[in-house]
Amino acid sequence: MSDKIHTLSGYIHEYQRSVQDPEGFWARIADSFHWQKRWDKVLDWNFDGPDVKWFVNGKLNITENIFEKNLYTLGDNPAIIWEPNDPKENNRTLTYKELFHKVNQFANTLKANGVKKGDRVIIYMPMVPEAAIAMLACARIGAVHSVVFAGFSANALADRIIDCHAKMILTSDGNYRGAKSIPVKAVVDEAIEKTSGIVESVIVYKRTGDEVEMKAGRDIWWHEAIKGQSEENKAEVMDAEDMLFILYTSGSTGKPKGVVHTTGGYMVYTKYSFENVFQYQPGDIYWCTADVGWITGHSYIVYGPLLAGATTLMFEGVPTYPDAGRFWEIVAKYKVNQFYTAPTAIRALQAFGTEPTEKHDLSSLKVIGSVGEPINEEAWHWYHSHIGKMKCPVVDTWWQTETGGIMISPIAGVTPTKPSYATLPLPGVQLMIVDQEGKELKGNSVQGNLCIKFPWPSILRTTYGDHERCKQTYFSTYKGMYFTGDGVKRDEDGYYRILGRVDDVINVSGHRMGTAEVENAINEHPKVIESAVVGYPHEVKGQGIYAYVICDLENRTEANLVNEISETVRNIIGPIAKPDKIQIVSGLPKTRSGKIMRRILRKIAEGDTSNLGDTSTLLNPEVVEEIKKGAK
Ligand code: WT7
Repeated sequence: MSDKIHTLSGYIHEYQRSVQDPEGFWARIADSFHWQKRWDKVLDWNFDGPDVKWFVNGKLNITENIFEKNLYTLGDNPAIIWEPNDPKENNRTLTYKELFHKVNQFANTLKANGVKKGDRVIIYMPMVPEAAIAMLACARIGAVHSVVFAGFSANALADRIIDCHAKMILTSDGNYRGAKSIPVKAVVDEAIEKTSGIVESVIVYKRTGDEVEMKAGRDIWWHEAIKGQSEENKAEVMDAEDMLFILYTSGSTGKPKGVVHTTGGYMVYTKYSFENVFQYQPGDIYWCTADVGWITGHSYIVYGPLLAGATTLMFEGVPTYPDAGRFWEIVAKYKVNQFYTAPTAIRALQAFGTEPTEKHDLSSLKVIGSVGEPINEEAWHWYHSHIGKMKCPVVDTWWQTETGGIMISPIAGVTPTKPSYATLPLPGVQLMIVDQEGKELKGNSVQGNLCIKFPWPSILRTTYGDHERCKQTYFSTYKGMYFTGDGVKRDEDGYYRILGRVDDVINVSGHRMGTAEVENAINEHPKVIESAVVGYPHEVKGQGIYAYVICDLENRTEANLVNEISETVRNIIGPIAKPDKIQIVSGLPKTRSGKIMRRILRKIAEGDTSNLGDTSTLLNPEVVEEIKKGAK
């Protein structure tokens, strides 16, 4: 029954099969799931629409594949282990049976409050099991969830409420993050105020006990709402291509877009990739440190692991609270076997030295993973030596919100690893490297832009409410291909190393940010005339945000204005988008047609002003000298 790969030759064999006969390959994998009705056709697709359908006319419910399918064998096994922000607070464990009952009960609660199949529900919650319960309850009744990371501002939340027309919001009174508690309910209230008439009700989970305002007729406490609701619920019949969720992500232009994932393909791919990449064995404790507000949390805290019947650990807090040994303390406490985190966390913890890593027993670890941004060699070696103790394979997993699941990664213990390389594509993933003109670069030792030429089951289907934007963003740069936005190198062994984004997307601590999005936020400040934002290498965050701003100082000091601009960005997007450096300038280097020369700004931000190229053709070459002098 298992579709797990165990040897390198097994991987090669499976990969070849998946390319020679993709439909046969995925039908075999999909057959191990529970379908209410089997599909008529495995795949229907073209990338021109784009129009991709997997498991055409198949009927299923993803939660039946987590619960009903596994209950006899796994009912009493832990599904979710929850570790609170404060290590002194009690932890929680929910078995598959208990989780099932809670999901059903909340599914009934959603229905009782007017949520129907197809309605959009925003989840703006802390990392508590109820966030996962909320997601699964939506899936149970066919409502479309859109989880919004609870660090986003009221403005950012309002944009998402409007874009997906959310009928309900699930939130909490407050969130604990390290030593702080954050009043999230107040953010929800402010967001709803900006979007009058869209949100009908709000269910509030009591987490911090902080006092909040409850609006009569709109707001209900979670614990009140579930009272009297049955723990039994019949799963909604979903088409394989019915929407499962929307997740907003930043692009190189405009506002974040709602990436749409559907039910059947996403289910098949997340379970398959989870089991293979991490080589999860029954009884193992798996821990991914992401937040459910990002795709990593969706696919590899909630759906993938639970579909595989795994025990998934959910951590509410931050890596440095109460001290820099917290991650390692948790690994020791639960005897974690697979650990999955981001390079930014590794680099941040690396700065505290090896003492915290030696203080805790990390011998349970079998596999350690990395995701979200390129992992530099130094961080890779530190992770491998001090966390993996030279014996755990490092799985550097490359993928995106749009891909739904891991695309390029070692299979733990099977694929030989190489520092800073994501190594090889998973079965079903047909990569292609192209040059600027879209010409395929064949063979090894080549470098170019990364495309994917054939659909995989968890490919995004559209961007919510704007299919044309999906086509423009991903399927138009190179005809007939999905363009990832990443640069890549294929080395002499055929191994892939991701080089980072080639578009105007920057990756700050593994969080994706559009430069235009940050510029738009900066420009909201009344004294700002124009701005240009670029990424620059940052030791811990991977990339930092560097903003060049032209503004009217009036009777403010420069320092005041810099603070105000920073606050404006926090208000419009959230703390994660605050620029690391703001330089007030009198002009921006522009071409004669008025286009900002970002290449020059990037170089200056990197601190490399030796080779700025020919600046004499600029409209305002003199400004380059000024910017160089004032560089931060
Ligand atoms: C972008 C996608 C998918 C999980 C979290 C991020 C970068 C992601 C890696 C990696 C190098 C990586 C890419 C990609 N990225 N993983 N292992 N090595 N770069 O999801 O927010 O959609 O961002 O993150 O640039 O395009 P996301």
